[in-house]
Amino acid sequence: MAYRIGVIGGSGYTGVELLRILHAHPEAEVSIATADSNAGAKVGELYPSLQAAYPHLAFTSIENAELEGLDLVFVALPHGASQSIMTSLLATVPHVVDLGADFRLPPALYKEWYGEEHTAPELQGGFAFGLPEVFRSSIKGSAHVASPGCYPTVSSLTLAPLLANGLVAPEGILVDAMSGVSGAGRSAKVTSLFSEVDGTIAAYGLLSHRHTAEIELVLSHVAGAPVSVLFTPHLVPMVRGIHATAHARPIQSGLSTEALLALYREYYADEPFVVVTDAPPTTKACLGANTLHITVRYDERTDSVLALGVIDNLVKGASGQAIQNANILLGIPEATGLPITGLMP
Ligand SMILES: NC(=O)c1ccc[n+]([C@@H]2O[C@H](COP(=O)([O-])OP(=O)(O)OC[C@H]3O[C@@H](n4cnc5c(N)ncnc54)[C@H](OP(=O)(O)O)[C@@H]3O)[C@@H](O)[C@H]2O)c1
Repeated sequence: MAYRIGVIGGSGYTGVELLRILHAHPEAEVSIATADSNAGAKVGELYPSLQAAYPHLAFTSIENAELEGLDLVFVALPHGASQSIMTSLLATVPHVVDLGADFRLPPALYKEWYGEEHTAPELQGGFAFGLPEVFRSSIKGSAHVASPGCYPTVSSLTLAPLLANGLVAPEGILVDAMSGVSGAGRSAKVTSLFSEVDGTIAAYGLLSHRHTAEIELVLSHVAGAPVSVLFTPHLVPMVRGIHATAHARPIQSGLSTEALLALYREYYADEPFVVVTDAPPTTKACLGANTLHITVRYDERTDSVLALGVIDNLVKGASGQAIQNANILLGIPEATGLPITGLMP
């Protein structure tokens, strides 16, 4: 029998991507999807792309959602919103996978980076950090997961083999990343308007983007020592995809591109969603897929290491990875129901 699934925040961009992937999942059945301003609308009215898959499902409000009996609930709400419903949610359902930031960071770090007091700090310890390639064993032993953000996913996994093997200095790492506009969600804002985004590129969140904390948290765990990263995100005129370009300073001599590529292939040899490429990866190769494509170079002239990674922000950067985490929590094969082929051309 299929697991009964709820999607809280099902009308947003990560919510609709959860609904798309879950429809093809052989062991999942979506019973409930909630919305806020769109409560009452049919899924297919809001997203014609889902009409054939969910002809009868309508978005309900959180208050009216009947959550008893569900096996697992995904929460895809704006940051700050999931902490207010989490106490009652955890009392009702056995497993929660949260796609927002509320339970990813220790409460003190949350306050530092999000500028507000956490309202349910006592619950934070119940959530594993949902980056399976790094924290698989703690996800397996946990009831709930806080899935990481899209930028931290691609940035951390692009750099992890270098830090795990002590090849680069843990400080002064630079990550410049470019994201498509769907990274900002579906709610209307001037900065997401076509006329503001098309034909231009702009950096934002200079020196202080909140995802820096998660990138440093993951990489410090991998390195076994504090890691500092200067992270600079950019908004680019495309809908989906993130491209991260990372620079780090070697602390070992005798590096070569061939050796680094071999090391990356070995490090990720057992990972079904990580593809190490010889050529520079393209965001389009991951479109719609739960994959991360990465490559790496050593530049002798400047004595630096360059690593490039790409994902679909809504799949490996959000909903695909959340389902990967759910598969682990439910004890079913991790790759079940997850696409590994991108949409080309
Ligand atoms: N977009 C990405 O690429 C991405 C990647 C990784 C993680 N995330 C994280 O995933 C979460 C969801 O992101 P998103 O891009 O899907 O956002 P979104 O498109 O703005 O969708 C937000 C969802 O939450 C509902 N909602 C908004 N305010 C609410 C409230 N106060 N109470 C209850 N429901 C409310 C919305 O309902 P209505 O539509 O009916 O108003 C919608 O279903 C965020 O925490 C985000 O940081 C996003």
